[in-house]
Amino acid sequence: MSTTPLLPLFLQQAGSLRSRLCVTLRTAIAQGHLRYQQKLPSSRQLASDLGISRVTVEAAYAQLESEGYLSRSSGRGTFVAIEMAPVSRGAPVAPRRQFSQRGTVLLRGNGCDDPPFPQAFAAGSPDLRAFPHALWQRISQRTQRLLGQKAMGYGDPLGYWPLRQAVADYLVLSRGMQCEASQVMILTSSQQALQLLALLLLDAGDEVGMEEPGYAGARQAFIAAGAQCRALPPDSEGTQLTANSARLVYLTPGHHYPYGTAMSLARRLQWLAWAKAQQSWIIEDDYDSEFHYDDRPGPALQSLDRTGRVITLGTFSKTLFPSLRLAWMVLPTGLIEACGRVRSVMDGHSALLPQAITAEFLLQGHFASHLRLMRQLYHSRRDLLRTRLQQELAPWLKAVPSPGGLQLTATLNHGNEAQLTQLAQGLGLILPRLSPLFGGAATQQGWILGFAALTPDEIIAGCSKLVTLFSRYVQNAR
Ligand SMILES: Cc1ncc(COP(=O)(O)O)c(C=O)c1O
Repeated sequence: MSTTPLLPLFLQQAGSLRSRLCVTLRTAIAQGHLRYQQKLPSSRQLASDLGISRVTVEAAYAQLESEGYLSRSSGRGTFVAIEMAPVSRGAPVAPRRQFSQRGTVLLRGNGCDDPPFPQAFAAGSPDLRAFPHALWQRISQRTQRLLGQKAMGYGDPLGYWPLRQAVADYLVLSRGMQCEASQVMILTSSQQALQLLALLLLDAGDEVGMEEPGYAGARQAFIAAGAQCRALPPDSEGTQLTANSARLVYLTPGHHYPYGTAMSLARRLQWLAWAKAQQSWIIEDDYDSEFHYDDRPGPALQSLDRTGRVITLGTFSKTLFPSLRLAWMVLPTGLIEACGRVRSVMDGHSALLPQAITAEFLLQGHFASHLRLMRQLYHSRRDLLRTRLQQELAPWLKAVPSPGGLQLTATLNHGNEAQLTQLAQGLGLILPRLSPLFGGAATQQGWILGFAALTPDEIIAGCSKLVTLFSRYVQNAR
C-alpha cells in the first residue's frame, strides 16, 4: 500500500506523534486500508512520508506489535498480523431481530424529553440561575475534604445513610409522612424508581391503573414491563377510582399531573381502602408538593396508609437541580430489602459524593431556605403568567386552575395543537403538548407551560410570541 491514505488520517488525530500514528494504523487496519499480511513501509520511508522522526515510527510499530496488530521479522519487514472482516460498502443489512419485544415497545414511546433551559415555555425545570451556586460549591469542597476516600468506594444500594436520615426527617416534618430512615431509598431519579418498581412488582399482562392524562415517564415504565395500562380520568376530587383489578396504581394526589388538582381526603381514603382490599400497590408520585402557592399541600397519601400499600416518590430534580440525579422513595417495610437487591443488579447505587453533599445541604438548613425563596419566586411567576394569559390570550387559551407547580396547563379553546406547536418552533417557543399525555384518544388539547425557570421579562416576551403565534395561525388558515 502507498502511505498516502495514512497521511490524511494521521493529520486528523490528536495527541503525541506516537499515539497519533498508533491510532492511524489501527484505524487503517480496521477499515481495511491495510490488509492481513500486507507489508508496511519501512520505518525510514514512513517517517519521511509523514514528516516525523524514524524513532517515533519504530516506537509505534513496536507498540502495535505488542498489541497483536503487526508482526515484524528482521530482514523481511513489518506486516499486518490480523484479519479484519471487510467493510461492507453496500446498503447495511438489517439484523434478523435487532431489538427485544420489550425494547420495541419502549422505542414506540419516543423516550422522555429533557427540557432545555431556559426557554419559554419548556416545562419541568427549576430556575438554575437562582440556585445558590457559591454555597453549594463551598459545601461540596468541604464534604469532599472531610470524606476523602470514604466517598470513593462502593456504597449501599439503598443510599447513603446520612442522606436517608435527612430525607426522612424532612418528610416527617414537611409532608406529615410516617417513615424511618431505613424506609427511605435514594435513587438517581423518580424515573429510575418507576423502572425499578415495574421490574420488581409487575408481570407481563398485569393491569396498572394510570392517570389519564398522566405522566408519560410512568406510563412508559409500565408499558416497558409489559403491563396493560387502564386509564383513570380525574374529576373535581382527583383521580377517579375505576381500577378494579389493577396490581398497581400510579397517582399524583398532591398535585395531579398535568391538571394540578389536589385529591380530596375522601378520595384518598377510598383509594387506600381499595389497595387494602385488593392487596394492590399505590405509587404516589409526590413530584412537586414543595411548590404550592395558594395553600399548604395536604399530607402525603403515605401518611394515611395503615396497611403498607403505598410507595411514595419524590425528586431533587425540581427542588435542587436535575443534573444532581438524586431522588428518593419511601418504601413499606416489606419492600426495603427487595428494592435494595434489585438496585444492586440495576446499577449498584447512586454516586456517594453528591449524596453526601446533598445530606449536608439539608442538615445545615439550606434546603428549607432555598425552597422558601423558590416558592416566593415561582409564585410570582405563576401569577404573572396566569394574568398575561387571561389578558392577552383568553380567546385562545384557558389556564387550568392549579394551586402550585413549576408549570401551568392551558387548554386550547380553538386551533390544532400539533400545527400550532410546530409553528411556535419558528418563533423560538417550545410548547410541551398536552395530548400525548393521554394513553388513549386525547379529550383535550393544550400545553403544559413551564414558567418557574423564566424571569418575568422572559414570561412577558413568551406571551407576546404566543399572541404572534395565534395571529399567524389565523393568517395561514385564510
Ligand atoms: C410527574 C413527574 N414525576 C417525576 C418527574 C421527574 O423526576 P426525575 O427527574 O427524578 O425522573 C417529573 C418531571 O418532569 C414529573 O413531571
